[in-house]
Amino acid sequence: MASRGSSVLKFFFLLIGCFGFFSFLAEAAMKKYQFDIKMKNVSRLCHAKPIVTVNGMYPGPTIYAREGDRVIVNVTNYAQYNMSIHWHGLKQYRNGWADGPAYITQCPIKTGNSYTYDFNITGQRGTLWWHAHILWLRATVHGAIVIMPPQGTPYPFPQPNQEFNIILGEWWNNDVEEVEKQGNQMGLPPNMSDAHTINGKPGPLFPCWEKYTYAMEVEQGKTYLLRIINAALNDELFFGIAGHNMTVVEIDAVYTKPFSTQSLLIGPGQTTNVLVQANGVPGRYFIAARPFMDVPLSIDNKTATAILQYKGIPNYVIPTLPQLPFPNDTEFALSYNRRLRSLNTLQYPANVPLKVDRNLLYAIGLGMNACPTCINGTRLIASLNNISFVMPQVGLLQAHYFNISGVFKTDFPDKPPTPFNYTGAPLTANLRTSVGTRLSKIAFNSTVELVLQDTNLLTVESHPFHLHGYNFFVVGTGVGNFDPAKDPAKYNLVDPPERNTVGVPTGGWTAIRFRADNPGVWFLHCHLELHTGWGLKTAFVVEDGPGNDLSIFPPPKDLPPC
Ligand code: C2O
Repeated sequence: MASRGSSVLKFFFLLIGCFGFFSFLAEAAMKKYQFDIKMKNVSRLCHAKPIVTVNGMYPGPTIYAREGDRVIVNVTNYAQYNMSIHWHGLKQYRNGWADGPAYITQCPIKTGNSYTYDFNITGQRGTLWWHAHILWLRATVHGAIVIMPPQGTPYPFPQPNQEFNIILGEWWNNDVEEVEKQGNQMGLPPNMSDAHTINGKPGPLFPCWEKYTYAMEVEQGKTYLLRIINAALNDELFFGIAGHNMTVVEIDAVYTKPFSTQSLLIGPGQTTNVLVQANGVPGRYFIAARPFMDVPLSIDNKTATAILQYKGIPNYVIPTLPQLPFPNDTEFALSYNRRLRSLNTLQYPANVPLKVDRNLLYAIGLGMNACPTCINGTRLIASLNNISFVMPQVGLLQAHYFNISGVFKTDFPDKPPTPFNYTGAPLTANLRTSVGTRLSKIAFNSTVELVLQDTNLLTVESHPFHLHGYNFFVVGTGVGNFDPAKDPAKYNLVDPPERNTVGVPTGGWTAIRFRADNPGVWFLHCHLELHTGWGLKTAFVVEDGPGNDLSIFPPPKDLPPC
């Protein structure tokens, strides 16, 4: 280039540069990640085994983004298992292709293949997470998604000095897929986990803990934001920190009215952000997590611990344990959930649907179906409205988008086929649970109320239900049978908690509302992997809206073949 006029050119480029810089500030960024699914040898509780990981990490890498960003994650599968990754809680507007549940929105990524998840983060900020959505692989294939508010937008609560991700999980000494397979062959629940973990580490109440204890260093007088994620497969967990209260400020990437508590309850799939002030006597304090289970079913009841450590305190100081609620403390669970409220401000409104176009009542049932090869000649199953969901061979979203017939039916009943006293005396009667891939068709933009009703078929139990593609408002909950004549009058339609996963209380019901403004096929399931596997799931087919701009995006070119 001639030197003549170069200063003009330089000025020109400077202008463009500034322009580019400022538009960068204002516009969405693109965040790119490469996820290599690969085996890695890992040891916990003095047991070593190969586990499936992302990039050799357990827990996996954190996705950092800002509200408004575009995120592109290329997943390459080097493991022997088929794989798919779900971005739990991201709404994936018109973009189910990036949602991830295997055989629901895509066929799995086979060994040696890749698939790119490409999505925008719109109107959401806070903590979510990602996990494998096939078999029980999410036991080790999971990680945090941290969505910061847009540049220049503060949190609606005191700014913390520092943030920590706290991922709660479960560890099996044996190969998790073997454990799952064994259970399926016997028709019984697979062996329960051997430990709970905090950021992949069980802590000092387990053997070989020295290397496997998570410690969080704090400074006296400072404030910390903890982003807590329950990535356990089958356990709802209580969580607390000795000597420190927590202020809940966000759940499932939605701000809440802040409240202070000694312990919190978090179900598989849920996230909770809390502020913690390091205002205790400088020392070492245990952080602990252990299950909530209010029916006499055996579960892994062991306590995972980590350490909150004040700067400068030597490691020989023995920490104290927090007082967590008793494992069967139903009252704590109910009252904790009652305290959760949407922030509901002008900037973060709770747009609760006030009128309902479609009323649904889904009864949750456990049961036994015949299985000649199983140990008792029966296999445990789970159902919604007496239908145990059968996984298709073709992704349901493809079948819907390309009009492939014979993959699913849209005749899922809006009500239980035979109403009964759902939460009365234990019922062991065989309701002749049918199996099928039956979905419910929902009109675009209609408002839906779904009441999830627990039943005493075999046993009552609490179930964390997750809906893909949406947040919903938890407008009501109660113990016993839902009463359509009386209960709606008691709903909170002002500031109910907004989330993507909600606990249906043991022997009770929960009512959720959402506006079906996201066309696609969206999975609805219990987030206890045990129950999902038994068939406690279905999906909504939300129809296209008027006009092309409200229909589903075309599928990406690298969508895995079935
Ligand atoms: Cu977190 Cu369908 O799952």
